[in-house]
Amino acid sequence: MLVNAAEMLKKATAGHYAVGQFNINNLEWTKAVLLTAEELKSPVILGVSSGAGKYMTGFTVVAEMVKAMDKSLGVTVPVALHLDHGTYDAAKACIDAGFTSIMFDGSHLDFDDNIAKTKELTETVHKLGMSIEAEVGSIGGEEDGVVGAGEVADPEECKKIVELGIDFLAAGIGNIHGVYPEGWKGLDFDALKRIHEATGGIPLVLHGGTGIPDGMIKKAIDLGVSKINVNTECQIVFAAATRKYIEEGKDKQGKGFDPRKLLAPGSEAIKATVKEKMELFGSAGKA
Ligand code: 13P
Repeated sequence: MLVNAAEMLKKATAGHYAVGQFNINNLEWTKAVLLTAEELKSPVILGVSSGAGKYMTGFTVVAEMVKAMDKSLGVTVPVALHLDHGTYDAAKACIDAGFTSIMFDGSHLDFDDNIAKTKELTETVHKLGMSIEAEVGSIGGEEDGVVGAGEVADPEECKKIVELGIDFLAAGIGNIHGVYPEGWKGLDFDALKRIHEATGGIPLVLHGGTGIPDGMIKKAIDLGVSKINVNTECQIVFAAATRKYIEEGKDKQGKGFDPRKLLAPGSEAIKATVKEKMELFGSAGKA
């Protein structure tokens, strides 16, 4: 069931758990995430970066595929189709394409410009029944071409952007996209506390979910995080399972080269990772 992400995240905040955003890259990824969400009776958010959208030949193709697959698989759990780290133009394109939710990432703009564009997009998407995520501070590292320095968000700026009526907020708290580097200092929980207090209980988003220790995930949820984004980890397990299949020479046995066979171990690996995360985040059984 395709829905926006506002309601599921309000429920998650009230219930002290988090909904996972899993980024999708192709049909296999989408199918693996949807099947796992349905199996675990968990709400889920499918994240689409601009790079992934382009790879799949456009946001309209993505939206049509997700809608059709949601139907053909008979998915009953709430599924949001969400733009990840969108520019203003990407946000507009996803609104036209039929996404149910967008992230407008104006964190690299000056704050007044971020506010002005977030305000306009918030008004537009709310008229259409969609939800919107905004960003303050920045997420370190690189997410599909979007590079951030990792500044910790200023609670006052968080408060101002939340007052525009956005549905959930990504605030930098020392989190980084991709694999965490050696010597990473961990999440800044004092900053998270201050942001949570300044923003009156709005769902907070933790980007860079790959490689954050379980204890930190739990603590972040306790402090108001109710959406956690995971991308790299699914890519790593997919690649490792595919490598194993080929290194074991399975592609050369019988019709092992059939793409449906070749991509199966990777798809199963994504399912296992998504399942583990849904259980850790506490969203399993909450649909
Ligand atoms: P990771 O790739 O580190 O899991 O982060 C995903 C993310 O935050 C997408 O916006």
